[in-house]
Amino acid sequence: NTVSLTELNGVPFNRLFAGLQETVENPDHFEAREDDIWVVNWPKSGTHWLWEIIMMLTSDKPQLSSRVKEECMFELRPGHALETMPSPRVLNTHVPHQFFPKQALAKSKVLYSVRHPKDAAISMYYHTRNIEDYSYLGTWNGFFSLFMENKVDCGSWFDHVEKWLEVVENHSNVQIVKFEDLKEDLTGEIKRVAEFIGYPKSDEFYAEVAKQCSFENMKKHKTELLSGWRPESDGMYRKGKVGGWRGVFTVHQNETFNSEYEKRAKNFKIDLGYTD
Ligand code: A3P
Repeated sequence: NTVSLTELNGVPFNRLFAGLQETVENPDHFEAREDDIWVVNWPKSGTHWLWEIIMMLTSDKPQLSSRVKEECMFELRPGHALETMPSPRVLNTHVPHQFFPKQALAKSKVLYSVRHPKDAAISMYYHTRNIEDYSYLGTWNGFFSLFMENKVDCGSWFDHVEKWLEVVENHSNVQIVKFEDLKEDLTGEIKRVAEFIGYPKSDEFYAEVAKQCSFENMKKHKTELLSGWRPESDGMYRKGKVGGWRGVFTVHQNETFNSEYEKRAKNFKIDLGYTD
């Protein structure tokens, strides 16, 4: 039981990512703007959440956007689709750093979001299982092996994070946001993000943004336009929790994962603090 994917320069991707082919073939094609703001991550690490927060900050309206983040997704919008978008553009992507437009790294603001890989892997399992285009009906056990073998959408979590942490370390216009920090102190993180992207607001505004982008509110009000989720599934807003992996990983899976993590995390330029 494998996941239906396409491969671009050695990295497996969702077949719907039509825009990516063009990017890979024309790496300097994308025209970045100084006022662009990017949310970048390995999938299932808080893209929708962070995108929504930034949309509220940049629009100066503490209410959920009538748009969806997929409309502003680099690999889903082929060709010039993003070129006609008015500034400030809040863009998002899951691409590993080698596919990310160089111009954007040189002049735009980038937030790299990261989530405990065990939770991200489980979230990715449900994502893959429940979106029809992946044609995947396997079990968690099977998916865990695929995850460890990098045979899932966007490839290796370890490669993605290792390289992007290096980028964060070397660029003052790139900052990290942890899913767990959003869960622990949402208002504080919203404020930090707002100041970093240059859209500071009042404490009342931050509190309202936090209220609007609670898991429950987003689940209730955000519609999924482009995704093709199986009707019986929970869709994008599944659980939104930290540490759910504890009830899912077997002892053996946990040991296998930990030994790989220990090896790879030695090369991370930033300590993520994921010790369990
Ligand atoms: P789960 O599958 O664990 O529930 P992404 O947006 O990068 O695809 O990530 C999706 C994950 O983020 C899902 O995780 C989803 O529930 C969670 N998520 C989305 N919005 C959230 C919110 N407002 N609060 C907490 N978690 C949220």
